[in-house]
Amino acid sequence: MMFGPGLNSRVLAPFVKSIVGVDISQEMVDRYNKRVENQGIPREEMRAICIPEQLLTHVNDLRLAKLLGDIEFDVAICCMSYHHFPSIYSITRTLSSLLKPGGHLYIADVESIPIKATPHGPDDNNKQSASDLEAIFPDGACDAGVVTHKYGFSELEMKNVFVQAGLADIDAASETGQIGSRFTYSIATRAFKKGKAVNIFLARGVKPQKPKP
Ligand SMILES: C[S@@+](CC[C@H](N)C(=O)[O-])C[C@H]1O[C@@H](n2cnc3c(N)ncnc32)[C@H](O)[C@@H]1O
Repeated sequence: MMFGPGLNSRVLAPFVKSIVGVDISQEMVDRYNKRVENQGIPREEMRAICIPEQLLTHVNDLRLAKLLGDIEFDVAICCMSYHHFPSIYSITRTLSSLLKPGGHLYIADVESIPIKATPHGPDDNNKQSASDLEAIFPDGACDAGVVTHKYGFSELEMKNVFVQAGLADIDAASETGQIGSRFTYSIATRAFKKGKAVNIFLARGVKPQKPKP
């Protein structure tokens, strides 16, 4: 399950039984379904659905589960869409609610601390401090409300979001409040935004198994 025109689906298709793509844009959904149809892939294997935004942020709304065919997903992936969501807390709770016990949620998006670029590429030793933070996305997109989180996200923010959605926990054995191993965070790749190199992170959380009776 993911958002957008289906670029990631193509990469993942060989490894999964079926994919349901979700987006609030009917245009994206139509592009996705047209591409699937052109490739002769059956709808049961790959399809996209347009879901109104309020259903995605309304946690445990049965209408959403119904639209998705009352499936519990093994994996939910959301790539480069979190910066659009007004509330990343409610969308994460919604995605968590759609996972089966033991299911994984993966989020990829822009990390909030850009790395200064040198003429030879990004300079790892020259990370900007949080106080130097500048908007990562173009002002126009932010002013128009298309981008809600113009600074991207920090690792701490993602941890808090995953903990609150029940996809990560604070390790009870740790005196320093370390996060447990259900949550992982890594830098997947780098991109350029407004001429600056930015990190693209990959955050993963796991839904707990149902307690044994
Ligand atoms: C930058 S594109 C990423 C597309 C794709 N996931 C990819 O990685 O190529 C962002 C997508 O998020 C969708 N989107 C924007 N706001 C949204 C919202 N509030 N809820 C759900 N999807 C949203 C847009 O329609 C668009 O398809």
